Amino acid sequence: MSREATPFKFNFGSSPASNPSAPESVLDVQVAVQPCSEEKLVIIPASDLTGGHFSDITIGADRNIVLKKGTLTGQSACPISEAPERADSDIVPGKYEGGFKLWECALDLAQHLCTAFDIRATQAQWTCILPRGTRVLELGCGHGLPGILMMLAGCEAHFQDYNEQVLELLTAPNICSNLHNHPSATLPPDKGPRFFAGDWATLPDLLDSQGLLGSYDIILAAETIYSPDSQRQLLQCIKKCLRPGVGQAWVAAKSYYFGVGGGTAAFKSLLTIDGTFESRLAAVIDDGASNKREILVLTHANGKANAPSEG
Ligand SMILES: C[S@@+](CC[C@H](N)C(=O)[O-])C[C@H]1O[C@@H](n2cnc3c(N)ncnc32)[C@H](O)[C@@H]1O
Repeated sequence: MSREATPFKFNFGSSPASNPSAPESVLDVQVAVQPCSEEKLVIIPASDLTGGHFSDITIGADRNIVLKKGTLTGQSACPISEAPERADSDIVPGKYEGGFKLWECALDLAQHLCTAFDIRATQAQWTCILPRGTRVLELGCGHGLPGILMMLAGCEAHFQDYNEQVLELLTAPNICSNLHNHPSATLPPDKGPRFFAGDWATLPDLLDSQGLLGSYDIILAAETIYSPDSQRQLLQCIKKCLRPGVGQAWVAAKSYYFGVGGGTAAFKSLLTIDGTFESRLAAVIDDGASNKREILVLTHANGKANAPSEG
């Protein structure tokens, strides 16, 4: 699955609306665990950034941070998003895990990260209270907007998605577009984005081979705990990837996913039983009309809940 220098495709068709909601249904498909591999994706120059369709999403304390979000549709849509079994489902376990859609908790998380780390952007510069080069991993990134925000704010950001096509066709183009749109955001030297595709069960082995295991100061995950299985797998992965003692994992999700069984309520119970992490409720987003959404911050139960150290 590993490929060298996969070019991006920016000839996307017209854009259908993203529908950020709970999974409509999850098909029960049993397949082997998808092995993880690093995707060597090229960050193309801004001058080559044509043909993609990007819309604006505004976040930040003053609502002045504009993030670019790509759209993937029509003839250029990835086959896995058009597969027959995908037709009535947001997720097909073991095949497609929902990364082509932008889910609402990703935006909750990006918005809250701005507040938590005092991330601000002007024409001239980005500021953030985190040390430059803080290492961030976004698990189940899809569009990757929370991770992209952290990257623009000066962090070293790595992105993981179950499906390599999501990384190639959405995450990486989003990174290009956002770097293009924010020329004052500079990446730490030799700490550009990296991309990992495959199952959380096999990600730790891959990171270990790269000297990255247990090296992440911050792990981000939005809408990744929708089922009991996904919760268990995500927790095991976080336990191995987070920097011992001082790392923080930010998990944004709905409190309950109807018909699927996951959500923050069940995840908190799992955390209590597991005992590795303490969790803090950092935000509750409740408009009274739709499903309540929450953001949890996990820190090691026996560690110091300090700000992340330079990594
Ligand atoms: C519902 S999507 C959320 C995408 C994005 N975070 C957002 O909020 O817009 C769930 C994501 O979790 C990831 N995922 C789910 N189960 C996984 C597994 N077992 N291994 C690896 N990734 C998984 C997929 O990559 C998918 O993009």
